[in-house]
Amino acid sequence: MGCRVLFPAMATATLVIVLLHAAAGESETNLVFYMHDNVSGNNVTAFTVAGLNGTSSDPGKFGTIVVNWDAATKGVQVTGTADPDNIVGRIQGTYVNTNLVTGLDFLMLFTVIFEDMEYRGSTLEFHGTDKFFAPHRELAVVGGTGKFRFARGYAILTTEVLSGPNAVVKFNTTIRY
Ligand SMILES: *[C@@H]1O[C@H](CO)[C@@H](O)[C@H](O)[C@H]1NC(C)=O
Ligand SMILES: *[C@@H]1O[C@H](CO)[C@@H](O)[C@H](O)[C@H]1NC(C)=O
Ligand SMILES: *[C@@H]1O[C@H](CO)[C@@H](O)[C@H](O)[C@H]1NC(C)=O
Ligand SMILES: *[C@@H]1O[C@H](CO)[C@@H](O)[C@H](O)[C@H]1NC(C)=O
Repeated sequence: MGCRVLFPAMATATLVIVLLHAAAGESETNLVFYMHDNVSGNNVTAFTVAGLNGTSSDPGKFGTIVVNWDAATKGVQVTGTADPDNIVGRIQGTYVNTNLVTGLDFLMLFTVIFEDMEYRGSTLEFHGTDKFFAPHRELAVVGGTGKFRFARGYAILTTEVLSGPNAVVKFNTTIRY
């Protein structure tokens, strides 16, 4: 089993990538980052662009479409601004409220664009339904570019901070590429 730590400067931080040998010619990697989804307040990075009531639609109601440019960080960072040293990338995409009854399911379509060290410019594609208050929430990793070409895998999601409609969500991601 080969094991090495990427992003050497962060070896002591939360974002530690362990490389394990999986099937022939493939590596299995675990990577953890935190999505800061701010839909209100003074530093909004996720905007309602459409829905049954137009741009004033509630993200918590069926049919509402949000476009996001969220920070991905290597720590939870509950308070204050996202420290530039802590940002590992951007989560760019959209989510759509897809549960007519509960309003708590979100179809998520994101590209995570890494800005860090040797993965700068590489991306991962996330796709799936986030059942926001379900005990187990999982998205598929359906592809990647750059260092992550041919990637596939999954991410386990947990909400670390919920402040009104704003959330910090942990992505515990396992990929093979
Ligand atoms: C649209 O507005 C109505 C009236 O305020 C409200 O009851 C409904 O929940 C809203 N729907 C959405 C999707 O925001
Ligand atoms: C998100 O908004 C909160 C206030 O609700 C703010 O403290 C935090 O810095 C914002 N996060 C980012 C990444 O800008
Ligand atoms: C808002 O977010 C941007 C981008 O992450 C950051 O540069 C800025 O410092 C943040 N401001 C506050 C008040 O959180
Ligand atoms: C990520 O998931 C793995 C396996 O499920 C677990 O061992 C690890 O502790 C998790 N890491 C974090 C930071 O939650």
